[in-house]
Amino acid sequence: MDYKFPVTRTTTPKAKPDPTKLGFGKYYTDHMFIMDYDEGEGWHDGRIVPYGPLSLDPAAVTLHYAQMSFEGMKAYLTPEGKVNLFRPDMNAKRLRNSNKRLCIPEIDEDLFVAAVKAIVDADRDWVPNVQGTSLYIRPFIISPEVSMAVHPATKYWFIIILSPVAAYYEGNDKELHGSKIWVEEGYIRAAVGGTGFAKCGGNYSCGMIASTEAQKQGCEEVLWLDAKEHKYVEEVGTSNAFFMIGDTVYTSSLTGSILPGVTRDSTIQLLKKWGYKVEERRILLSEVLDAAADGSLKEAWATGTACVISPIGLLKFRGTDYPINNGVVGDLSQKLYDTLYGMQTGIIEPEMEGWVVTM
Ligand code: COI
Repeated sequence: MDYKFPVTRTTTPKAKPDPTKLGFGKYYTDHMFIMDYDEGEGWHDGRIVPYGPLSLDPAAVTLHYAQMSFEGMKAYLTPEGKVNLFRPDMNAKRLRNSNKRLCIPEIDEDLFVAAVKAIVDADRDWVPNVQGTSLYIRPFIISPEVSMAVHPATKYWFIIILSPVAAYYEGNDKELHGSKIWVEEGYIRAAVGGTGFAKCGGNYSCGMIASTEAQKQGCEEVLWLDAKEHKYVEEVGTSNAFFMIGDTVYTSSLTGSILPGVTRDSTIQLLKKWGYKVEERRILLSEVLDAAADGSLKEAWATGTACVISPIGLLKFRGTDYPINNGVVGDLSQKLYDTLYGMQTGIIEPEMEGWVVTM
């Protein structure tokens, strides 16, 4: 289907930020996409309008019960001045799954991708052109419905905003570094049967207490353990976790409490193509710590749209430091980063067919 969305252009375009000082999530572009949902009518009236505040009743259901879902994607500038998206169909599928879990009406995958392309096209001159930067795309769904009753809303907004960004972990856009990661034993991120596999605000707000504690301990992020037994490793902060022990790369299987990351899937596919042994299974924290202690834990890294590949240089558990590869960024982490970011920015030929969408 060929979707067309009317565009109302801003009459007061903003000055663009210095692309060497972007940070993450500090600046927003001139326009946003918005589409309504009404029960009986479905999703309708997708349009591009000037970026600006939303008018929400204080009793809007999203504000109270967090009925919302979101996605994270990026657009990249190629050396030829074109704009690339990376596997947008995967985000479209994941949003549908998140919506199902949150009782939010699903959005057709074609419609989702068309909306993303339309808003990125409207603000394509905002895609930054400095090494390590990109235009972060944040599609999200909230409900403006006025209700204090706890039940699924009948009205929603699907909105897409754009933000020119540098690396999620400061400095990684210039040179990757090994992060210090705090192994969290008390708080949990998600339990099987809950919303861990969905992308929704509640999964992130509940983690803030642990990441704040981690930062107080001199670490950048948290390694989450499973909710039931607190002995299996699950995710790192807002990203998936990988461990190379001996000659095998391990990542947690998608148990229901793990987010099915697009970068996670891309990493697994690339590693298999390159001939590495990859195992998706539940991984005991003790396996990881024993391997760190005896030197067989060669590398560890986190994967995510925002953080791309973020190497882990050290795990901190019960007061003991477990350095990984002496805190030095491993060759495989670097190769994964260079390949993914290279493909995304069109600097290298895509290794996988259909992953890069040029517009
Ligand atoms: C992403 O990697 O896109 C995420 O959604 C993480 C985010 C919460 C910054």
